[in-house]
Amino acid sequence: MANTELIEKINKLKKERNAIILAHCYQNPEIDFVADYVGDSLGLSRLASKTDAEIIVFAGVYFMAETAKILSPNKTVLLPNKNSGCNMADMINLKQVKEFKEKNPGVPLVCYVNSTAEVKAQCDICCTSANAIEVIKSLGEKKVLFAPDCYLGSFAQKNLPDIEIISYPGYCPTHLRIIPDEIVKMKIMYKDAKILVHPECHQEVVKLADFVGSTTQIMQYCESTKHKTYIIATEKGVVDRLKRDFPEKEFILASSKLVCHNMKWNTLDDILNSLLHNQHEVTVEEETRQKALSSIQRMIELK
Ligand code: 13P
Ligand code: SF4
Repeated sequence: MANTELIEKINKLKKERNAIILAHCYQNPEIDFVADYVGDSLGLSRLASKTDAEIIVFAGVYFMAETAKILSPNKTVLLPNKNSGCNMADMINLKQVKEFKEKNPGVPLVCYVNSTAEVKAQCDICCTSANAIEVIKSLGEKKVLFAPDCYLGSFAQKNLPDIEIISYPGYCPTHLRIIPDEIVKMKIMYKDAKILVHPECHQEVVKLADFVGSTTQIMQYCESTKHKTYIIATEKGVVDRLKRDFPEKEFILASSKLVCHNMKWNTLDDILNSLLHNQHEVTVEEETRQKALSSIQRMIELK
């Protein structure tokens, strides 16, 4: 089916079924033709918590759809392509999170939303890359556990020197592919460029940044500043959208290796099928959901 026909069909079906399509900005850009909202994990969770739609089609990865289901248990949440996982979320399971806590008794655990429902159920509060510092600070503690991303943990530690942050050794393989040398070389080639970095990158890359932020924060920085050239150290989907939305500016992906294959599975065909056949429905066991919900809600309610 031609793309325009496919897009029309999805948009019609979406209305008929009272569905909303939420898309992360690492998705293939054609998904934006049918998405009601495109953004970062924080914005997507906020929307999932307040939508009136009966069905949420989540064009993202599994933990994002699972977060939507935790927030909206009475809605049908669909992940169009079930291969859409996250390597970082897979680095910590229930047993491992329990061991991490047991080694540090009495210390509160902050959990990056890039984790499974079982892991979220074990933590005190969730965070995203957009609010990790505020979330940790909000606890008012001297010592905090952080899982699973040790690089987001290091970034928070740098910004909160008075708090001891003990990080679990998880990481994002996509963001770790960018090495500092590549950025240094680019900065020589594009002298006036601003360097924008996602906090999942290695600390040595973060050190070279003019701005560090979540995907939406990076996009907002590009929109609200008047520079000509930006070097972007996060997943390629962000650069694809920036080039489309701001053709008068120049955006350079810091490394051609910055592609998250997990995020590229969902296609328009998959979205049509998900709406036609309710595939693939995400479920969360109720006791786990209740526990995970309080840590996500605690984050969402933070000012
Ligand atoms: P954001 O918090 O910027 O949406 O990032 C999510 C993610 O998976 C980054 O790898
Ligand atoms: Fe997971 Fe990394 Fe892909 Fe984000 S970019 S979804 S953290 S593997």
